[in-house]
Amino acid sequence: MSDLRSQYLSMIGITKWKLNTKPNPKELIKEDKSNDWEGLNEIVRKCAKCSLHKSRTQVVFGSGNKNAELLIIGEAPGSEEDKQGKPFVGRSGKLLDSMLKSINIIRDEIFITNILKCRPPDNRDPKEKEINSCRSFLINQIEMINPKIILSLGRVASQILLDSEDAIGKIRGGEIFSDVIKKPIVASYHPAYLLRNPTAKEKSWQDLKIIKKILNT
Ligand code: URA
Repeated sequence: MSDLRSQYLSMIGITKWKLNTKPNPKELIKEDKSNDWEGLNEIVRKCAKCSLHKSRTQVVFGSGNKNAELLIIGEAPGSEEDKQGKPFVGRSGKLLDSMLKSINIIRDEIFITNILKCRPPDNRDPKEKEINSCRSFLINQIEMINPKIILSLGRVASQILLDSEDAIGKIRGGEIFSDVIKKPIVASYHPAYLLRNPTAKEKSWQDLKIIKKILNT
């Protein structure tokens, strides 16, 4: 930031600032713009924008109903998802299915995808370059599906979609409008976290009830 701008900011009392290094989401939409769902799927399947394309077995585009009112966004495919080419098919996926059934939703009615479409080796956290490479794919998916509500699962997805650095325990707890994607979001715990911390299931259930209420109105 220029010295002059720092001076102006400090004059109005802003002493802590952070440069926005994220690419403009609208620009990225143009970059990977496809006219239809199949075209987008094809672009994503052939993607080699970051190094994850070298280690993946296959791309995990997402699965379900592309006209869904509920879109679920997780972090990234794990080893089972990488093998099968579908999101949330491992242990976390089984718990997710039960969570959805508890509010009378079946997988085929909704769409499920991830921030990253390729598996990070050893299930490590996504890197900035990987997130930015996949960003336009997700934005295009959201635009085409146009869901009524998005459920973001876990810290990584929720922080990215809400441009937050807070812990998931602080972010969750109601419907939040995302300035990043211009959609309402309910952030909740990742099923993998719930498998390790079953006591958090109570709060996760509160979040699911909010989703159900929104879908019913
Ligand atoms: N965890 C995720 O975040 N996504 C998946 O698809 C599987 C596990």
